[in-house]
Amino acid sequence: MTEQAGGWSLRVVDSYDEVASIAADAVTETVARVPDAAITLPTGSTPIGMYEELVRRVRAGEIDLNHAHIFTLDEYLGQRPDDVASLTRWLFETFLTPAGIPDTNIHLVPAAADDPEAAAAAYEADLAVHGGLELAVLGLGPNGHIAFNEPGSPPDSRTRVLDLEPGTIRQSEEYWKGDTAVPHRAMTLGLGTILEARRIVLIVSGASKSEIVRASLEGPQTLDVPASWLRNVGSRLEVVLDRAAASGLSDTAG
Ligand code: GLP
Repeated sequence: MTEQAGGWSLRVVDSYDEVASIAADAVTETVARVPDAAITLPTGSTPIGMYEELVRRVRAGEIDLNHAHIFTLDEYLGQRPDDVASLTRWLFETFLTPAGIPDTNIHLVPAAADDPEAAAAAYEADLAVHGGLELAVLGLGPNGHIAFNEPGSPPDSRTRVLDLEPGTIRQSEEYWKGDTAVPHRAMTLGLGTILEARRIVLIVSGASKSEIVRASLEGPQTLDVPASWLRNVGSRLEVVLDRAAASGLSDTAG
């Protein structure tokens, strides 16, 4: 692990499995310290290993998630948890159900609300009631998005509806293997909301992300690369990369 100028830490590990287990450790440590912590967790390919490991730990009695509050990060606008292309449905199947998280402790980004703006504000208020985010585990979008905070998202943005970029829509359609059309708008936890988390763990794997990793961690901080704002939070940020994802960095010794 190396500490970077700005105080955040970078850890480059040999394998995807190590990325997954370090991310699972962050969740485990957080709930051991703060059992009723508010936690947000990502969807996508990257966190699958973390979820497998967390479910294993729950079944082995190594972690107690019964009191944690899980706040979802993002969802396509209008999608309900039983829709095919629903990130919420994916999270239930992959993690929330197998880990036995009580329904009362699951907080869903209200992407299907009749009044999304009011519902987004209520979601923020609900998070505040639970003390704000104790932990945010994040993936990195191919265009540098964090959750669905697309390029152009201000670092103080709150939970809201926004348009997805064409590349993000394509990525999403590939993810659902063409089974279904993907809405072109989404609701996302705000970048500002995420940056307030008391611990942020960004996990990235694979050579296809190496260039956006470089831009996010070594490039200028710019609205064009939402992840570049993560570097503002000092020691609250931990970046965990496998060697392939780190291959574009000037210093990968970490
Ligand atoms: C998706 C999600 C993000 C996720 C990112 C990376 O669009 N909205 O929360 O972190 O893209 O996904 P993947 O891990 O599949 O590369």
